[in-house]
Amino acid sequence: MPDVYAEGSLEEFIEINRIIPRIVYECILTTGAGDETNAAPMGVVIKKDMIVLRPFKTTKSYRLLMRAPYGVVNFTDDVEVFYATAFDTEGSFSELLTASVSVPTPSLANTYARLEFVVDSVADEHGDRATFNCRVLKALWKHGYIRPYTRAEHAIIESLIHATRIKCFLERGMAQEAVRLALLVKHYDALVSRIAPNTVYSSIMDKLRTLISGWGLSGLSPCSFEFQDD
Ligand SMILES: Cc1cc2nc3c(=O)[nH]c(=O)nc-3n(C[C@H](O)[C@H](O)[C@H](O)COP(=O)(O)O)c2cc1C
Repeated sequence: MPDVYAEGSLEEFIEINRIIPRIVYECILTTGAGDETNAAPMGVVIKKDMIVLRPFKTTKSYRLLMRAPYGVVNFTDDVEVFYATAFDTEGSFSELLTASVSVPTPSLANTYARLEFVVDSVADEHGDRATFNCRVLKALWKHGYIRPYTRAEHAIIESLIHATRIKCFLERGMAQEAVRLALLVKHYDALVSRIAPNTVYSSIMDKLRTLISGWGLSGLSPCSFEFQDD
């Protein structure tokens, strides 16, 4: 059955869905230029009349947005989708994509809301990130969505964010920072195996643990850091 969405402006989306300004919400950003398409987890701040994205300049999302100024902020709480779009190089995310209503960039299917946008301005900071101020052309959302809270989902999102930074720090030779974040991931790993054993959550943590173990962290720490089960 096709997804049924309400459609409206950003203002209506904010009001009906009780969006809180200044909070960084986590989304999956879809971008595209030419025949290249991308989907990646990204933080987004929703303001009264615009949304703000801050991709690192090293990301494909940044490159594609600079080439074609359209994109979609897709909201999901499916941690498998966060994992797949952050790290899963074997499985392709293209099967998750569907056509958008008002932009040439595809959206993710099965999300509970999305914001289709055009980039209004780019503030090129001197640092690692650029700031994209974007105008929402169409907001779409499903009505009456509820889902019980579990710490496991948040532990995975935290771990994924840290893992993307660990990779980056290691590539730049910043071993101390990488080890510090890996210890946090280790903490979340222990939490997930305690509160959600043998679930989709523990299986994602297993995959992430294997991934991080392959990055050679154990040789970096003076206190014989090992990334393994508690
Ligand atoms: C929940 C979550 C939020 C993230 N937020 C951002 C962000 O705001 N900006 C950013 O550049 N990377 C962010 N990342 C990291 C990117 O998703 C990651 O670097 C990804 O590999 C970039 O993909 P790309 O090169 O395909 O665009 C986030 C990762 C996760 C898991």
